Formats: sequence, structure tokens, C-alpha cells
Amino acid sequence: MPTIRRREFIGGALVTSVALLAPRSANAVDARVEVLINEPIGTISPEIYGHFIEHLGGVIYDGVWVGEQSKIPNIGGIRKALVEHMRRIKPGVLRWPGGCFADSYNWHDGVGPRSERPRRTNFWIRDTTQNSDSPQVYEPNQFGTNEFARFCKLIGAQPYFAANLRSLPAKDFYEWVEYCNAPADLTTLSRMRAVAGDREPFGVRYWGVGNESWGCGGNLTAEEYATEFRRFIAWVPRYSVKLAFVGSGPNGADRRWTRGFFTKLAEKGENFFRNLYGWGLHYYCGSTGKKVSTEYTTDEWYELLGKSDRMESLINDHWSVMGEIDTRRQVKLVVDEWGAWHERDKSMPETYLWAYPGTLRDALVAGINLDTFNRHADKIAMANVAQLINTIHSLFLAYEDKFIATPNYHVFEMYSAHQGGTSLRTVFSAPRVSYNVAEKPNSLWGLQGSASLHDKQLVLTVVNPHHNQARETEIAIRGASIESCQSRVLSSPDIHAHNSFANPRGLEPKDAEVTISGSTFVYQFQRASVTRLQMRLA
Ligand code: AHR
Repeated sequence: MPTIRRREFIGGALVTSVALLAPRSANAVDARVEVLINEPIGTISPEIYGHFIEHLGGVIYDGVWVGEQSKIPNIGGIRKALVEHMRRIKPGVLRWPGGCFADSYNWHDGVGPRSERPRRTNFWIRDTTQNSDSPQVYEPNQFGTNEFARFCKLIGAQPYFAANLRSLPAKDFYEWVEYCNAPADLTTLSRMRAVAGDREPFGVRYWGVGNESWGCGGNLTAEEYATEFRRFIAWVPRYSVKLAFVGSGPNGADRRWTRGFFTKLAEKGENFFRNLYGWGLHYYCGSTGKKVSTEYTTDEWYELLGKSDRMESLINDHWSVMGEIDTRRQVKLVVDEWGAWHERDKSMPETYLWAYPGTLRDALVAGINLDTFNRHADKIAMANVAQLINTIHSLFLAYEDKFIATPNYHVFEMYSAHQGGTSLRTVFSAPRVSYNVAEKPNSLWGLQGSASLHDKQLVLTVVNPHHNQARETEIAIRGASIESCQSRVLSSPDIHAHNSFANPRGLEPKDAEVTISGSTFVYQFQRASVTRLQMRLA
């Protein structure tokens, strides 16, 4: 992408042709965004705006599940504030029960009367204080299949189950599908579901077959995993829902895993790829060293944003390997774990692994990733941020009756306007930002984002990573003119800004009306910001 030099923008012709919207700084326009209405990329799947909950730390107990008898307001045991917030952001899909936990989980433990369910050692026990007898360490199985399906229904998300391939036989997988999807009166398992209060089948379409099978999911080679995958998905009962199987894909840049799996699968013929709906890529960025989420230098601000931007090359790299073998492009990418990973904040209990209030920096990471997925709408079928509440890149933090939305939540709310739209090719040109990593010079683009069209509504989201410079930007809508425009901006003069239990609304987006007409205008993207412009086209 060409970087436009500042002097190219200072010519009188350009300056007189634009409507001046934002307060002009002494600087002339130094960046440009061109939205190409007639260059569609693909439909932005609502499932790109997907989430993930795992029986890890404080995610399920007490993030999601507080229990029916709790003083904390709940709907059938599920935290009410969480349900209400989730409804506002239109979550496309919700993945459960892991993560690594999935390959240690026996779904039979989590069905039937709650008082009779067994207590088990949680997969994550090695990462936490072992002398605690809390539900974060010893799994009480109070939140199981029916509870998860009800949570999905309450928030309007499709369920996405991750099945155990490491420590249970394929038979248990088939039975889980049967428990969820078979009509009530037909089998013993579907009758059990009905007795538990859910007569109608859950109609679960998305099934992950193992998780991180290269590591916690079995330490398999790509070839071994391909063989297991084939066996697991062979002749699974389908009932009325067409099942969509997701394979356990690579750890970040591991192209060998992708190539090995696809090559092995292709031994059964290229038609076999019809059975693989998605290939699950996992990529986390994180602070270097054991750092909490709220402490970083300006260089570390950029370092994390730069790391999160690797998502784009990972998508392109794996997509190109997949296409060499699946030449008819039957398989899409599913980025079913992504986010920025820091240390637990000391204000959260020790057993709440990696629980922290994300900051403005994490919000920009969210914007960068969601924009990347939108720009690759032709390749990405689904993405799931890790995780929803109380761990890693969470949208919420909860402890007993305290509950807050993090800046990540606000980005998801802003970007939900992209769902189901047609992603449009959009060209960003701005001076790059320079910074140092371990005293070595590095740089990052100056503006980046994505655009989508929904009939006459155009949504443009943009990240300005500069910690203290706004970007005076010419925005050109090629192929349409604009009737009206609203902006919504998440930003702060403090790059460490975040919300906390004491100050739950410290960082929130702000709305403004933008007065424009025509197809070209100047807009000032605030420093350190995520912006959404919603335009009504003529
Ligand atoms: O999201 C936390 C963990 O990260 C997941 O359990 C695992 O799949 C990944 O390594």
C-alpha cells in the first residue's frame, strides 16, 4: 500500500474540494482513506463477531454462572448483567467448553440433575493455587450442556461446541451430537435432554473436533491428527441440522501443521474437504515479560499493536497453503482463539487466571483484529475472541456482585454494525509510526480499518494507533455520495485508560453528528482511537 507524502495533500485543488468537518489543526491533511463501493470482497459473516467461554479461572464460575439461588441477579443461574450486555452486541456464535479444557471434558458429567453431577479436577489446576477447593479448581459441573445452550439462546448466539478428541472415544462425540440434536421422543439421550427441561433439539451446527491437537489436545503430529479427525467425523448422525466441523488448526505461524493436515486429508481425495467446514487458527499477542495489562511504555503500546497486526499475514499465509491442496476452496478459516494476553491483575482472586481489565491498548487490538477479519471476509467464516469474561482479552470483568464492561466490549458494540454487510476494498494511506522494540527500530502503519455496505448504509471503522497525534484525513467514497454521517469514537488522552470496579465508565465511546455532503470530506481521527463512521448514502 503506497504511503502518501504530506506534500501531495497540500495542493490547493484538494483542499478546496473537501468539506471541513472536524476542527482543523495547523497541519494539512496528511492521510487518505478511499472506500471503493464497487469492489466487494465478500459478506461479513456475523460469526466473525463470535465469543468463547472455557472452564478456566473465573470465566464460568462466577463470570457466567452464579447459580439460581445467588443474590446476584440471574436468569436461571446465568448472570443477568452479562446477558443484557451481550444482547446489545449481537454475538454471532459462542464457543464452549474450551480451549484445553475441552479435551479433558466428559460431557456426560454436565447433564442430568445438578445435585447429582460429579466434581472433577479442572484441567487448569497446574496453573493455579492447588490448595483452593473453589469451583475454578475443582469443576462442579453445574454449568453443562443445557445451561450452555440456554445461555446461547438468551443472548441470541449460535452454539459452537468443542469436542474431546484426546481423552474420549469418538462414540462420546456422536452421543453428544445425539443429545443435542435428536428429536425429543426418539432416543434415550434426547429424552434425557427433554427431562432436563429442553424438549426441542438445540440444533447445534458447529462442532470443533479437538482443540490445539498439536499441544494440550493430544501432542499429535498433523498427520496423526488428520487420521483422527477423519475417524471422528465419519458417519456422525446428522438429524435435521447440517453439521459444520472445524479442525484444530495451527498455532500462529505454523504452516507445517496446516500443510501436513491438508496433505493427509487429501489422500482421501479432494472431495473430502467438503467435510471440513473450517480450519481453526489460534493466535495471541501479549505483553513481553510477565506484565499486567495496565502497565506499559509508549514503545510497548506500539509493540503490542504491531504484534496484533500479525493476524493479517497469518491469515494470508495459511490461506495460501490451504489453497495449494484444497484447490476448490471448500474450506474457510475459523480464528477460534485470538486476543492480547497479559498477567492477572492483583485485584482479582488468584484462581481467576489471567483476569484483568483491558485498557485502551487492548481496545485498539480488538479494532485491529476485527478490521482484519472484515477485510478478509472472503476467507474467514468465524472468529472467537478469547475469552468473553474474566480472562485474557475479555469484554467483561466480574467478581461476585461487581461487573464491568471493558473497552473491548465497546469495540465489539461499535463493530457489530458490520455484521452481515458486504466488505468493501478500502485503501488507507498515512505516514507510518516509528517505535523501538528492544532498542531496535520498528514501525506500524499510520491508519488502518475496514468498510462494509448494507443497502444504503456504509460503515467505516478506523484505528489510529498514534499515541499523541490526530490524523487529519481525506475520506473519499468512490462510487456514491453521502447524505448523512454519525461518528462514534473510543479514545482518551491517557493511553492507559481503562474501566475498573471503582470507575466502571472511565472509558466509553462518544457519539457526534458529522455534517457533510458529496463524496469526499476531511475527518480528524483522534489520537489513540477506534472510530466508527456510519454514513447514509444518497
Ligand atoms: O484461551 C486460553 C487457552 O489458550 C485455551 O484453553 C487454549 O486453547 C489456548 O492455548
